[in-house]
Amino acid sequence: MTTILGLSGSLRRASFNSGLLRAAAELAPAGTTITQGSIRDVPLYDADLEAGAGIPQAVQTLQAQLRDADGLLLVTPEYNNGIPGVFKNAIDWMSRGDGLALFRGKPVAVIGASPGGFGTTLAQNDWLPVLRTLGTIPWFEGRMLVSRAGALFDDRGNLTDDKTRELLARFVQGFAASLSRGG
Ligand code: FNR
Repeated sequence: MTTILGLSGSLRRASFNSGLLRAAAELAPAGTTITQGSIRDVPLYDADLEAGAGIPQAVQTLQAQLRDADGLLLVTPEYNNGIPGVFKNAIDWMSRGDGLALFRGKPVAVIGASPGGFGTTLAQNDWLPVLRTLGTIPWFEGRMLVSRAGALFDDRGNLTDDKTRELLARFVQGFAASLSRGG
């Protein structure tokens, strides 16, 4: 069994990116499970909080999910041509404590959806130095840039477009296959 931890970088109820992650989980091939982690309860990073109460429970949960996963799937929105702060904040927290060891050597794929025309290209590029610093192994065989998302998702954020679902299934299949080969 191959396990992938999927994280959406949006807190919005009808988020395109959370919908993209849900669809990826639905479309995962037999033998692969995509666990949908949540960044919702992760507080803003504060070194004083860390020194006092330690790593917050929500972060510890994510770290445990990452420990159990063969790969990580980041589903990123794009804000002002970069990574949304809430998403970077969660990953920064996850890298604390023993977290760096969890990222090191972990295969990571990045996808994203945007109502604009460029489908999170710049946010996906923005992740690259972060993934390098964390010592991950980025998976570059596939690319998934979902643009004009308003026409592809329903008003609850469910991915309804057949062509995009097909491309997503192929993407997840490719990532899962690379994980079962050992990354
Ligand atoms: C955006 N949005 C946006 N979209 C994009 O393609 N490029 C960008 O640079 C930005 N910048 C940006 C800044 C801020 C502060 C917000 C709130 C939004 C639009 C963004 O893609 C849109 O809100 C998506 O719906 C966010 O993803 P979710 O929440 O649907 O997953």
